[in-house]
Amino acid sequence: MIKRLLFCALACVTFLTATADEGMWLPNMIKSRIKEMRKMGFKLKADDIYSDTKASLKDAVVQFGGGCTGEFISPEGLLLTNHHCGYSSIQMLSSVEHDYLTDGFWAMSRSEELPVPGLTVTMLVKMEEVTARLAAGESEEAIIEEAKEKYNADKAEIEPIYYGNQQVLYVYRTFRDVRLVGAPPSSIGKFGGDTDNWVWPRHTGDFSIFRVYANADNEPAEYSEENVPYRPARHFKVSTKGVEEGDFTMIYGFPGNTQEYVTADAVEYVAEVSNPMKIALRTIRLDIISEAQSKDVATRIAYAAKHANIANAWKKWQGESLGLDKLGTVEKKKEYEKAFAAWAADKPQYANLLDKMHDAYEEVIPHYFARELFNESILGMEFFNYAYWFYIYDARGEKLTADKQAEARRIYLNDYRKEIDHAISRRLLSEYIARMPKEKVPSQLTAAINEHGSAEAFVDYMFANTRLLTEYPLTREKYLEDPMVKFAGWFYNTLQDNRKYAYRNLSNVPEIEMWYRTYMQALREWDKERAFYPDANFTLRVAYGIVTGYENADGEYHTHLTTLDGIIAKDNPEIYDYDIPQALRDIYKSKDYGRWAIEHNGKKSVPVCFLASNHTTGGNSGSPVLNGKGELIGINFDRTWRSTMSDIEFDPSICRNISVDIRYVLFVMDRIGGAGYLLEEMGVK
Ligand code: ARG
Ligand code: GLU
Repeated sequence: MIKRLLFCALACVTFLTATADEGMWLPNMIKSRIKEMRKMGFKLKADDIYSDTKASLKDAVVQFGGGCTGEFISPEGLLLTNHHCGYSSIQMLSSVEHDYLTDGFWAMSRSEELPVPGLTVTMLVKMEEVTARLAAGESEEAIIEEAKEKYNADKAEIEPIYYGNQQVLYVYRTFRDVRLVGAPPSSIGKFGGDTDNWVWPRHTGDFSIFRVYANADNEPAEYSEENVPYRPARHFKVSTKGVEEGDFTMIYGFPGNTQEYVTADAVEYVAEVSNPMKIALRTIRLDIISEAQSKDVATRIAYAAKHANIANAWKKWQGESLGLDKLGTVEKKKEYEKAFAAWAADKPQYANLLDKMHDAYEEVIPHYFARELFNESILGMEFFNYAYWFYIYDARGEKLTADKQAEARRIYLNDYRKEIDHAISRRLLSEYIARMPKEKVPSQLTAAINEHGSAEAFVDYMFANTRLLTEYPLTREKYLEDPMVKFAGWFYNTLQDNRKYAYRNLSNVPEIEMWYRTYMQALREWDKERAFYPDANFTLRVAYGIVTGYENADGEYHTHLTTLDGIIAKDNPEIYDYDIPQALRDIYKSKDYGRWAIEHNGKKSVPVCFLASNHTTGGNSGSPVLNGKGELIGINFDRTWRSTMSDIEFDPSICRNISVDIRYVLFVMDRIGGAGYLLEEMGVK
């Protein structure tokens, strides 16, 4: 028995030990990793990555918009990110006459750059662990206020790491004058669309270019014609030397959400309960939308962004559940926890910890699941938010003027097709009824379904009798008696209850999370071999690895690089996702690749995307991919489908991030965009 436990303690520990490529490290604590990084080919020092006293690489990395990363590539504020990160900005600036999504956009001079209202770029000024200061009695507010004042910053935050065992202060400055400089046509920037999303081999030119503007003192300022290009303390030098298998790579960016330390209960919930439900409900929506899109071009365009949004997580969850299953993560975690429990048994502060956590999961899971089910079913009905808007603002005593109704229509019913929503709502409501415990279904809804005979019949009734979707503006009398507004109102209590469980992961619900602080502390005491890194939380991190392919299936190796030849092989004018610009076909035909030509498998081609073993997640989109000298060799934009479980368990043999090769970015700017002057600004010879 003891022998078995010992074996497990060793085996399980090595199993879960952070490997060379695993981890998202805090830049100001990178010293602990530098030795290993240098062994792998990194040539710089820790204070080149992050420094409080001199310009460092961190000054060239920004958070782009709410959830992406971007990087400075010139001394005059030129900024690179993904096409899918710039997408909503490009869409917002587009019109029927100027369709920049379809045709691309290239400012040929500074005066042609297009301001994007509402778009922000956030720079980290300083980060610092403040655990000791807080323990000594300083208040969070005092620390934050002092930091803002000292660094002339508009934003400072204290973020817990390791479930609150340590606290880190982040000080930021937000720039609000950000202008679009360039974007390839979607047929390059979104090449492969949802078909190739999360997939390797990949051929997407997923980049767009912006410029940050500042006032005359190089300080953040609202948009003004007077503003001048921001001069960053540091920008990335571009390397056009290319990548070889085995080369060191580093990703510097803002990863959003991982949960590497959760117990088997949480993994089981994700893999076997939550993901399958969400996948099933989204499959219903996607099938209905795709069917409608295939029949009508206008509908395809109207629902393109919605489809992409729904499909992105849908596909990721499938890869994640499959990956967790293949890795046997639940079983491994159970063994790990058994070994931990044996160690903890004689330590009063830890002895019953896992039992308490298990109880907390049992308690919370039904409620968390109900919220997720509500989100994927009721909120999947497009009319719901619009109807609820009437209900809630009226209940708060607001006057819903014609203007306000018009604004709400614009937000909630944009590119709306009643037939699609109707078909989806029928299916989603019956799924909701079938899957939700009866006591959690609003009683008025149960009564209505009884009265109409079925969920579908009740949805038909709502769509036949509503005025919400066809008449505008509606008088108070009319909207209050509208069946959709009434339906929405029945969920008032549900929405209030759900707020108690509105945390990004099940394990972050306070009743559960409270135990993790102790658990993390215990793990670090017990599992001395494991290299602990804090879970991603949208703060700046460093990941490092190497350029490398992987074995996708038995006997099926996927190499690390794709080329223009692969784009041409996929090219098909009949298939929307694979219909490339004629200019690209012409260049291929001429074989006149100029300075962008490489020799690949004995053929002349142009590099497009490459694979590496960095640990990344959502939020890392747009992150600079750097070589050993800290030079820019690519832009991160995705992971392979089989990697997506790395948010919970990273497997170095299979987990790969996907980047667009910087040489393809330059090739497109130069040869498709005709924006060679930007290359000059970037110092590309
Ligand atoms: N999978 C990438 C990231 O999450 C890219 C998403 C955008 N591209 C798309 N075809 N939907 O989130
Ligand atoms: N495309 C993702 C993003 O938008 C990155 C892919 C991933 O999850 O690794 O951040």
